[in-house]
Amino acid sequence: MFAKIASLGLFGLNAFPVDVEIDITRGQPQFEIVGLPDTVVKESRDRIKAALRACEISFPAAEVMINLAPADTKKSGSVHDMAIFMAILRAMRTINDNTDGCAFIGEMSLNGDVRSINGVLPMMILAREMGIKSLFVPADNAREASVIKGIDVYAVRNGEELIRHFRGEEYLTPCENYIPPEPEYNEILDFADVKGQQFAKRALEIAAAGGHNALLIGSPGSGKSMLAKRMPSILPPLTFDEALETTKIHSISGLLSPESPIITKRPFRSPHHTISSAGLAGGGTIPKPGEVSLAHNGLLFLDEIAEFDKRTLEILRQPIEDRCVTISRASGTITYPCTFMLIGAMNPCPCGYYGHPTRNCTCSSKKVVDYQQKISGPLLDRFDLHIEVAPAEFKDLSSNKKEESSEAVRQRVTRARNRQSERFEGTGITCNALISDNKLRDYCIMDSEASATLDRIFHALSLSGRAYSRILKTARTIADLDDSELILKKHITEAAQYRINDEQK
Ligand SMILES: Nc1ncnc2c1ncn2[C@@H]1O[C@H](COP(=O)(O)OP(=O)(O)O)[C@@H](O)[C@H]1O
Ligand SMILES: [Mg+2]
Repeated sequence: MFAKIASLGLFGLNAFPVDVEIDITRGQPQFEIVGLPDTVVKESRDRIKAALRACEISFPAAEVMINLAPADTKKSGSVHDMAIFMAILRAMRTINDNTDGCAFIGEMSLNGDVRSINGVLPMMILAREMGIKSLFVPADNAREASVIKGIDVYAVRNGEELIRHFRGEEYLTPCENYIPPEPEYNEILDFADVKGQQFAKRALEIAAAGGHNALLIGSPGSGKSMLAKRMPSILPPLTFDEALETTKIHSISGLLSPESPIITKRPFRSPHHTISSAGLAGGGTIPKPGEVSLAHNGLLFLDEIAEFDKRTLEILRQPIEDRCVTISRASGTITYPCTFMLIGAMNPCPCGYYGHPTRNCTCSSKKVVDYQQKISGPLLDRFDLHIEVAPAEFKDLSSNKKEESSEAVRQRVTRARNRQSERFEGTGITCNALISDNKLRDYCIMDSEASATLDRIFHALSLSGRAYSRILKTARTIADLDDSELILKKHITEAAQYRINDEQK
């Protein structure tokens, strides 16, 4: 007896169709799974036998051969359990209803329950493209799947529900389309908590408006971590497409909650400085997305950046530039996107008080230089804004003055971002930070005074070509915040303030 049931598999972020073919023939009882399965798939045999027993169905005393097609693609994980379970039922004629147009994904446990799996969203998107009409998923994954319209999603809790449905005894009803709620900004830390610090706040507003990488440098307790943690509150909300892209990465990493399975806030990732290269950029035997990809469409915050392993930090250069990470394995090449804003924070020296207005630094000048060189020149260059955070002043900390809320800042940021969306329409560029050097002349048009000022600054500070383009892009964003298409002198001088580290060279 032959039967075929549709399932889906996953390689990196890419889903692919899998057909579970079964043949039951008379002969010595055995149960084989072929078609490049990994050990987890092979263990399906034991889970499915037990699950069938739990549903009071005896396993056929015959030769049972399962083939996962296409046979040349490696299958991994427990995602095909439910389809194999269904294939056996069909071949045994335990169920009669038609399974055409249906696909099944989910893990089965020994007691017949269906367990949640990772990567449902990318598989769901493929299922819709393939014209599958009904997708049966674990109940805990049902919301995530039903965010995509145009396909009936059935939430399955256990094998018995499947059996009753396909025997026509008790039908499952398709889930309602899930519409993720608008993000609640009042749950996020607010800039209104930060007293004073006008210079740093303005700089972070510019960073948010243009998607620029920013490095905060200041003594301990000056509020660097406090400022960085409030960045999500001034970023514009994710668009629906961005939300899906980001959710896919979190989905395959198993980081979604069944209650709110769609990421609607820009991610804010702040890995500890002991993180490995693979943890940061992605990797492992079955390559997983790293922090850079989990931060896709959001922020990666590296607090105490000088404490990270230098080689780990250097790995960041390529993903920052390419906005994706490619990992090669014998089984193939996986690419994960990573368009993120990088925010770093560091002390200026080991003791933390170099350049402090009132406290003495106890480090030798060599130690100060060594410390600052923990961030290599090329990496430092990738921060458009170098922001000096001065210690909070007593008069600010003790004042009762109400500080501007993040919402007010976010409105200005959103307006500047809208200007950028109009300017870059159809080009694939999303913000000023992503303008390529050969397009600078097209998008960053200065009046003659601005151009003369930049010329003067360039020579006075003997800037590198890279620093030049960073200033120009930052000035573009400052002009956007100022609702000006032309870059003026004041925009250039403000942008140049954020290159303090170039000045020192
Ligand atoms: N401008 C400020 N307004 C209000 N509180 C501040 C300010 N600066 C520092 N603080 C307080 O000091 C604490 C330490 O700041 P933190 O961000 O950890 O400093 P850093 O990361 O620079 O060492 C904060 O949690 C906050 O309570
Ligand atoms: Mg800190």
